[in-house]
Amino acid sequence: MSPIPREFEWHLISADPESIISKGTEIVEVNIAERKICITKWQEKWMAFQALCPHAGAPLKEGYIDSKGNVVCPLHHYKFCLSNGRNCTGQGYDMRVYPLEVRPEGLFLGIRKEGSK
Ligand code: FES
Repeated sequence: MSPIPREFEWHLISADPESIISKGTEIVEVNIAERKICITKWQEKWMAFQALCPHAGAPLKEGYIDSKGNVVCPLHHYKFCLSNGRNCTGQGYDMRVYPLEVRPEGLFLGIRKEGSK
């Protein structure tokens, strides 16, 4: 097991993460540590990203994941890479992504501690 990064505070999202993704739903929004976060599972890997589009604030839970692993915004269809948040359609609005870890206790989300890089 890899060491747990210390610059993050880890928050339990669910003890049974498969239960939060229902069939036919690609992206779910959860409330964690007083913020809304989108969660998805793409190619068997859990991913987390900001809930609102960095362009004009559309709810990304209403978008979808394309075949290359990009979040497609429902409003203007800009695309954002799930793994690093880059705006891969080139408009210059990067999306915040969050680390996730599957542990025996469930799925955990890492939020960077204040003051860490
Ligand atoms: S609000 Fe998402 S691309 Fe414009």
